[in-house]
Amino acid sequence: MLDKEGREITYLRISVTDLCNLRCKYCIPEEGVNKKCHSDILTFEEIEKVVRASAELGINKIRLTGGEPLVRKGIVDLVNKISSIAGIKEVVMTTNGTLLKQLGKALKEAGLKRVNISLDTLKEDRYKNITRDGKISDVLEGLEAAKEAGLNPIKLNVVLIKGFNDDEIEDFVNLTIDKEIEVRFIELMPIGINGLKFHEKFLSSKTVLQKIPNLIPIVSKDEFSTAKYYKLEGAKGKIGLINPISHNFCSKCNRFRLTSDGKIKPCLHSNREIDIKSALREDKDIIPILAKAIRVKPKEHHINEEDYKPIDREMYQIGG
Ligand code: 5AD
Ligand code: SF4
Repeated sequence: MLDKEGREITYLRISVTDLCNLRCKYCIPEEGVNKKCHSDILTFEEIEKVVRASAELGINKIRLTGGEPLVRKGIVDLVNKISSIAGIKEVVMTTNGTLLKQLGKALKEAGLKRVNISLDTLKEDRYKNITRDGKISDVLEGLEAAKEAGLNPIKLNVVLIKGFNDDEIEDFVNLTIDKEIEVRFIELMPIGINGLKFHEKFLSSKTVLQKIPNLIPIVSKDEFSTAKYYKLEGAKGKIGLINPISHNFCSKCNRFRLTSDGKIKPCLHSNREIDIKSALREDKDIIPILAKAIRVKPKEHHINEEDYKPIDREMYQIGG
């Protein structure tokens, strides 16, 4: 359906849990997170109902996110159920990749199309540091498993962080020479805890083009893609630059979000949330609630304005 700005909304991102088996420094506070009460979290049946209703409103693509979606028990079943809903053309996932070795094959068989894997460094010690004790071998093995399972094309999400991974840009770009993967550099966004330190850590994705001047621009097939694409001559894979800050893509935005505690977020960068959990639990028709949430989607974000205040929720509660 169209929102009030005339944008066609076709894509729903669902955070299935705000728990994660890692604690990335820019995402989760040092003391960890309070586990929500079981009853605060939408059940799989409730998520399925939201997907069904969304499909009736013209949503055709679902992305499962977290926290880490693969830590939620029964996730393969959920993929299975929602990928068979009429109107849903693709179910994809954003994951930290650490559990793909165990689950990749089952997810593919359940109907998952592709995965985006988050990996901000290729160095073992840095990975351990930024994720507060994660093992990079888990991700690298997960990536191979996902490729073998056919969850292609695999996209790697690399958040650019000044003073942390600026010296690894070339290594990440070089991964695309002989692998059919897409390496996507994402600008750090001012969200939750990192919001206040944002200006110290922000690195524009232009840095990638400055460091690797021989990247050749390519045209994306997906007009709604948030990335601008490039490649090295002769490379098998490609590079995507996602510039939510320096080049906002609000006018082409086709998405909205559902949080694990049952709130609809029409825009990532706005505190506005619409509760859908109560209606689900009272067995009310949720289509009008979804339709309203889509209709009121803000025209654009205001991150670049001087008095912008980061949203209150953390990324692990929304799923990116
Ligand atoms: N800015 C940009 N990307 C972020 N992610 C988490 N927090 C931020 C942020 N503040 C990324 C994760 C993951 C995806 C879900 O969002 O690294 O790739
Ligand atoms: Fe977990 Fe992703 Fe947050 Fe890292 S960025 S702590 S992997 S949810």
